[in-house]
Amino acid sequence: MCIISASILNADLANLSNVAKIVENSGADALHYDVMDGCFVDNISFGLPVLHALRRCTELPLDVHLMVKDPLRFVSRFVEAGAQYLSFHIESDSDPVATVDAIHGHGIAAGIALCPNTPLSVVLPLLPRLKAGDFILLMTVEPGWGKQAFIYDVLPKIRQLRAVLDQQELPLHIQVDGGIQEETAAICREAGVDFLVSGSYLMNAPVPADAVRYLRGR
Ligand code: DX5
Ligand code: ZN
Repeated sequence: MCIISASILNADLANLSNVAKIVENSGADALHYDVMDGCFVDNISFGLPVLHALRRCTELPLDVHLMVKDPLRFVSRFVEAGAQYLSFHIESDSDPVATVDAIHGHGIAAGIALCPNTPLSVVLPLLPRLKAGDFILLMTVEPGWGKQAFIYDVLPKIRQLRAVLDQQELPLHIQVDGGIQEETAAICREAGVDFLVSGSYLMNAPVPADAVRYLRGR
């Protein structure tokens, strides 16, 4: 079954504990937390103090997506702040093997994220390094903002990765992030995705629990 992770980037941040409750009540499996440093992407979101605050608001697993220039420097601090899934971009300046090893050193799931135009070939040599429950995040929008339109050109990359994982019997998840709503979720699930991030669609849904069901396809 698909893991559903709710991105709070465009939620009502004036009331963080209420946002956490809405996500919990929706039946989502995790809370997706987008960290932007103004360097790796041209936007600044929130960082460690807000994650510490959020950790006190919910028991849900926190799925932290680092869109920062040097993620390796921050691995320990985000784990201490409560991250249970931690993804970083292959396009960042950090050494990916060292970053994956650092995340594993804390006993949590590591994710390697790829921007829409980054070819799958760059991540394939790293797959044997990953453990069961880790994931590859294929961005379906350019990172930096919520509420963007899903980029359909990423679909062949999703299918190709699913084929590789199946062929090599690797127990890794494929996460997608950006423009995920009922229709694009169905297309992604069919292409082999089992870990969906949804922000504006889920947080603006009249009944978030219905939106989560639609994302799961039932
Ligand atoms: C974009 C972020 C996404 C974003 C998703 O850089 O990584 O997690 O919040 O928002 P929606 O679902 O609105 O595209
Ligand atoms: Zn994200």
